[in-house]
Amino acid sequence: MQLNFLWLTVACCWAALTTAKFIVPGARWHDTNGNLISAHAGSVSFDDATGKFWWFGEYKVEGQTEGGGVSVYSSEDLATWSYHGLALEPIEGHPYISPDMIIQRPKVVYSERTSQYHMWWHADNSSYGLLLQGLATSPTAGGPYTFVNASSPLGNWSQDFGLFTDYKDGRSYALYSNGDRREGRDVYVASYDKDVGALERVVHRFDKYDLEAPCIVQTESSYYALMSHKTGYRPNNVVAFRADSLAGPWSQPWIVAPLNTRGFNSQSGYTLTIRGTKTTTYLYLGDQWDSNSLWESRYIWLPMAIDDKKKDLQIEWHDVYDLDVKTGDWKSVKGKTYFGKDATTSGNAFKQEANFASDGVILTGIYGNDSTVTFSGIEGSVQRPLRVSLKHTMTFVMLTDVYSPPDTDDMGFGDQPGGSPDRIKGAWQLRRISSVVVNGDEANVQTLFQRDTHKGIILSTPLLLTLEKGSSNTITVGGLSNGVDYKGADLDRIVVYPPEP
Ligand SMILES: *[C@@H]1O[C@H](CO)[C@@H](O)[C@H](O)[C@H]1NC(C)=O
Ligand SMILES: *[C@@H]1O[C@H](CO)[C@@H](O)[C@H](O)[C@H]1NC(C)=O
Ligand SMILES: *[C@@H]1O[C@H](CO)[C@@H](O)[C@H](O)[C@H]1NC(C)=O
Ligand SMILES: *[C@@H]1O[C@H](CO)[C@@H](O)[C@H](O)[C@H]1NC(C)=O
Repeated sequence: MQLNFLWLTVACCWAALTTAKFIVPGARWHDTNGNLISAHAGSVSFDDATGKFWWFGEYKVEGQTEGGGVSVYSSEDLATWSYHGLALEPIEGHPYISPDMIIQRPKVVYSERTSQYHMWWHADNSSYGLLLQGLATSPTAGGPYTFVNASSPLGNWSQDFGLFTDYKDGRSYALYSNGDRREGRDVYVASYDKDVGALERVVHRFDKYDLEAPCIVQTESSYYALMSHKTGYRPNNVVAFRADSLAGPWSQPWIVAPLNTRGFNSQSGYTLTIRGTKTTTYLYLGDQWDSNSLWESRYIWLPMAIDDKKKDLQIEWHDVYDLDVKTGDWKSVKGKTYFGKDATTSGNAFKQEANFASDGVILTGIYGNDSTVTFSGIEGSVQRPLRVSLKHTMTFVMLTDVYSPPDTDDMGFGDQPGGSPDRIKGAWQLRRISSVVVNGDEANVQTLFQRDTHKGIILSTPLLLTLEKGSSNTITVGGLSNGVDYKGADLDRIVVYPPEP
């Protein structure tokens, strides 16, 4: 009896401890101190010694978006992150890691042979004239890491940097684009020596594809290499290649997210494979850069659907999902939807025909605080913050008075230099900004950063709101200034998700 009872207690608490937390791609992610997580273009890996996931990334704060060093966070569930400070701290006057230098795309791997954690990154000066790979090491996962050197990989140039470890033989590989010069524009896969201390040889060159931000995910039978096009901090259609072996032959690239979502508004960066007790889950870890405010850039982490028989990989969108890192299982969280057709409009906001939208209408003309839309009858089951996802799009139809030149083509955005995101009064805007007011409480205006999308493409923007218990909540959306205008994105619907368990 007693043993049974004890066993039950343990089972209960173990289950409670490992209860998965929600992952909300594109939300503002905070660490356990309540600060915005700043770990851009980084890597996340599980460390056996500590039994935790460690997330390294570029540390960016307002006013210093480059050379901020490498931050590090740890987590047991991939949703709750504790900050451990800078794993690689910039050193004033240092030739490679001073705050004036570029310290980008850090990746960390454990070297069995040196018993050290090895951090590699794209080391450069501010004009990208050096194109080196930096190495720093630490005896512990969390650091601090000590700078070792920065060098040219096998004599070539190295810009966007990635790192991949083959789970079958433990061998690690550097992935790097060799910059934008005419002689460059390739992406390399090069093997490390067994120490992961230097590169040994080039295993494959993706010749002249002119792609960047490379990462690789491995299944039992395939390697998939994901990369983005080169459009600066503007997102584009992320592509993947497949091969049986890292040396190739590699397939043609294909687009891994629905067309014109621009990789769900993200750039490829890293992948994380969770080989759980029940299933294996492949996560895409992308960056949602905000070029107007780099330090506020967000993270798009999504499961990938990989079908080795069809030789296909696709990234799947989920507003909110629940991941159990022990079993590897995840499920999409269900929300309650409120459609635009049932919302009321004020001022110049109106419902416009849109055959791609829910019920064939979309809410548009959301401008300033006198042209708003209001969703009513929104249910709040508990008095805790609820995650609300506003499904929005923007159509250039409503922007004919403000975008220029008239032949601007967003179709080729990413692939053609002529492509352009939303252009308001001549200025590129990667986002619109809306005000969100709950239950008419004008004193607590929430700010919603809505990403620019392609014509007719509906994407979600998450926002954490507090609703009253009962079903009489209202949510009012207006436009806020993005420095150029007061336009909010067109809205399709609102989905309210339950709070975390
Ligand atoms: C970066 O390094 C290159 C190559 O040494 C040099 O030509 C360039 O002037 C440097 N840029 C800066 C900002 O120091
Ligand atoms: C550091 O890298 C440079 C090339 O960037 C190389 O010349 C030098 O020998 C390296 N030093 C060490 C200690 O590895
Ligand atoms: C780097 O490789 C490219 C081909 O991928 C070659 O044309 C170029 O000369 C190389 N650069 C250096 C510095 O070796
Ligand atoms: C409404 O927006 C204008 C700017 O368009 C601003 O000056 C004013 O303070 C706002 N009023 C309220 C009540 O938020």
